[in-house]
Amino acid sequence: MSRDPRTPKTDPASDATRDTGHNYDGIREYDNPLPGWWVWSFWITIIWGFIYIFFAFLPPKMFSGETSLETEKAEMTARVFGALPDLQLDDATILQYSQKPEWTAIGRSMFQANCVSCHASDGQGSVGPNLTDNAYINVKTPADIADVIANGRKNGAMPAWGKFFEKKEQVMLAAYVASLRGESRPGKAAEGEVPAMPWGKAAEK
Ligand code: HEC
Repeated sequence: MSRDPRTPKTDPASDATRDTGHNYDGIREYDNPLPGWWVWSFWITIIWGFIYIFFAFLPPKMFSGETSLETEKAEMTARVFGALPDLQLDDATILQYSQKPEWTAIGRSMFQANCVSCHASDGQGSVGPNLTDNAYINVKTPADIADVIANGRKNGAMPAWGKFFEKKEQVMLAAYVASLRGESRPGKAAEGEVPAMPWGKAAEK
């Protein structure tokens, strides 16, 4: 005989021990414990959460000295830049890499991730100046581009990025920006002066 689903699954004999004594307009409250497997999986997820936070985010110096997020960033930087020799933030290095499309592509992706809020998607300028025309406010040579990027300008209106990017990353950002000169993408009107030293499209004319 199958059980009528409306019949309470309670055993009248144990009613007295399970009754919590709470009575809401005739509806009595039982102490109805959760199944053991459920309670255990609940505790296991909490314990796992602490273990995960410990290894993922806190610096467990005794293991590696770095959090796994720092390790990940360092590994990625090593993968992308590892094969390069040490680079200087000077004119020759920046110009050299500004002519290597495989490296300006990397500079471009860093630019897309960090700079477009002020310089627009292709450097054509919005809050910050147009970087694709022939003129600059703070720049006379390619090394000045790297200097502006590392140290910022105008009390942080152009933020200082020096502590966020390693030297090789700064070279690639500067090389990408240098490669934009003379692209003349329609955008903000040119500001500043045309540097005497030619590079980018300005060098081809
Ligand atoms: C919060 C807005 C902002 C962000 C983000 C920003 N810039 Fe700028 N940038 C400016 C402003 C404003 C100036 C103009 C400073 C001045 O007038 O001297 C500037 C100037 C520059 C210049 C010099 C241009 C010139 O004509 O002298 C370069 C190069 C430059 N930025 C590159 C970058 C790069 C590369 C990034 C990303 C890593 C970046 N900027 C992110 C606002 C920004």
